Amino acid sequence: MSLIRLAYASEATFEAKPLEKGVEPHVARILLVSRRNNAKVSVVGGLYYGDNRFFQYLEGEEEAVRATYQRIQQDPRHRNVRTLIEEPIAAPTFTNWSMKYVPASADVQAFLNRHKLADFNPMAFDSEQCEEMIDLIRRSSQDQKSVNYDETNRKTAPAPQTLSTGLKVGLISAAACLVVALVLVATML
Ligand SMILES: Cc1cc2nc3c(=O)[nH]c(=O)nc-3n(C[C@H](O)[C@H](O)[C@H](O)COP(=O)(O)O)c2cc1C
Repeated sequence: MSLIRLAYASEATFEAKPLEKGVEPHVARILLVSRRNNAKVSVVGGLYYGDNRFFQYLEGEEEAVRATYQRIQQDPRHRNVRTLIEEPIAAPTFTNWSMKYVPASADVQAFLNRHKLADFNPMAFDSEQCEEMIDLIRRSSQDQKSVNYDETNRKTAPAPQTLSTGLKVGLISAAACLVVALVLVATML
């Protein structure tokens, strides 16, 4: 059994929807699938999305991580996928997270300020910045674990239809007729 860790940076190809709160719908969909797939093969890690760029960290069995990364690299929702770290590790460090999500936060802003970076551009991170970013994701308590695509959909789904009064009256009349018919049949037997 050989464990590896892998970090990469990429640029989103979709137009981010401006949201006041919650997770960008494309990202929510990615998270939903990632959590389902990664849990099956014991891959763990975290995803950061900011300034329309991704930084993702993966850990797990070498074969599982490589297979996951191969699928990710071919995904048209991002481009310029650049591997930042790929190396063996002795023990997992992201236990219990199939894919932790960290939204743009004060922590990340402080990290950018500390390194005098104008925006979030993980392609240009040096190894120290990569490690800091991984640690930030690991420590973050901002994950919106429960957010998934179904929930995003539910917010915009129309309210459930209630039966109209006319239909209700019709149904009650039909039920009453059925009861009367049954009573009549019973008395004839
Ligand atoms: C930025 C980004 C991160 C992703 N992370 C993962 C991941 O951690 N695990 C995963 O299975 N798929 C991930 N995906 C989705 C894969 O590219 C691919 O769509 C998915 O694995 C297909 O799974 P399916 O065959 O079950 O639909 C990611 C995609 C993007 C764009």
